[in-house]
Amino acid sequence: MNQPTVSIIVALAKKNKLIGKNNKLPWHITGDLKHFKKITYDHPIIMGRKTYESIGKPLPNRINIVVSRNKNYSVPPDCFVVPSLQEAIDLAKEKDLIEIFIIGGGQIFRQAMLVADKIYLTLVEGDFEGDVYFPEYESLFKKVLSRSEHESSGYKYTFLTLAK
Ligand SMILES: NC(=O)c1ccc[n+]([C@@H]2O[C@H](COP(=O)([O-])OP(=O)(O)OC[C@H]3O[C@@H](n4cnc5c(N)ncnc54)[C@H](OP(=O)(O)O)[C@@H]3O)[C@@H](O)[C@H]2O)c1
Repeated sequence: MNQPTVSIIVALAKKNKLIGKNNKLPWHITGDLKHFKKITYDHPIIMGRKTYESIGKPLPNRINIVVSRNKNYSVPPDCFVVPSLQEAIDLAKEKDLIEIFIIGGGQIFRQAMLVADKIYLTLVEGDFEGDVYFPEYESLFKKVLSRSEHESSGYKYTFLTLAK
């Protein structure tokens, strides 16, 4: 049976790999949010409990899978809570045969680097400070699948898709 692609999707500061500040994104880029929606739409999304709380609600039209060590963590009926990233991936694979997405945050991305096949990066230009960073990925993901330059909400950014 075909296995779905396991993909990471992330927006990071090009200069220092920053991804988060005070449990929020360091920026608000409408064009990137639309890109995220388009890419992940109708596919399962896997996230750490902190990212789930940062978003504040399940994202519609996607199976939301939250990773938490708290067995009693409460989510709406159409969401799932699992105790490890591997269980999240196994569950997502049961739900989708094409592609599943790991959407953050920092803790979950670090554990996902070896299991992911593909990364959709948004590289944001500028100087940013914060508290959560994306790990080194360049040595693992070397194949460039696509690249395009964009500008919106006062930011310049690059969509870059890489594979192992
Ligand atoms: N720029 C982007 O593309 C992007 C994307 C997503 C998130 N973010 C940002 O990243 C930040 C959040 O990242 P974060 O690293 O603080 O948290 P996170 O990875 O979203 O969530 C961490 C939580 O996930 C659970 N967890 C992690 N590893 C686990 C394991 N092995 N087994 C079971 N549960 C596990 C734990 O939940 P419990 O404590 O409940 O056990 C842990 O506290 C926010 O600032 C957010 O805005 C940025």
